[in-house]
Amino acid sequence: MEITKKILVIHGPNLNLLGEREPGVYGEQSLEIVNKSIMDSAKKINVECNVFQSNHEGEIIDKLHSARHDFDGIVINAGAYTHYSYAIRDAISAIKIPCIEVHISNVFAREEFRAKSVIAPVCLGSICGFGIEGYTLALQVLGNR
Ligand code: DQA
Repeated sequence: MEITKKILVIHGPNLNLLGEREPGVYGEQSLEIVNKSIMDSAKKINVECNVFQSNHEGEIIDKLHSARHDFDGIVINAGAYTHYSYAIRDAISAIKIPCIEVHISNVFAREEFRAKSVIAPVCLGSICGFGIEGYTLALQVLGNR
């Protein structure tokens, strides 16, 4: 089957520490393993996928801007930036390509500040609380569009 969609997966701050960081909340798999599972899922559903991680707001914004020329969709776990970065929200809004917000944990079952996402209104939809399966679900949705 022909590959039809190119999807970029962006991991925001502190996600480079997956596996070490609060494993009870985020699981025991390292980012490398998570990325491998994302790439395996992408292959199965015939989407081309690139992964990117940064701890820096400006780098995430630059990546979003450059993605507008190269990708059909974006999956973003913006980490804590989700809750307050109007700059990332504006970048998602500016690039006009469909973007799905993913969180590994159930952000609604945690501290109150995590229940607010400033990027959700400019995303196609949000997936949270399903661990790393959320990335696969998001790829499926974007791959089928
Ligand atoms: C997270 C949830 C955020 O509140 C937190 O700041 C993260 C990870 C998640 O994947 O569950 O860094 O986005």
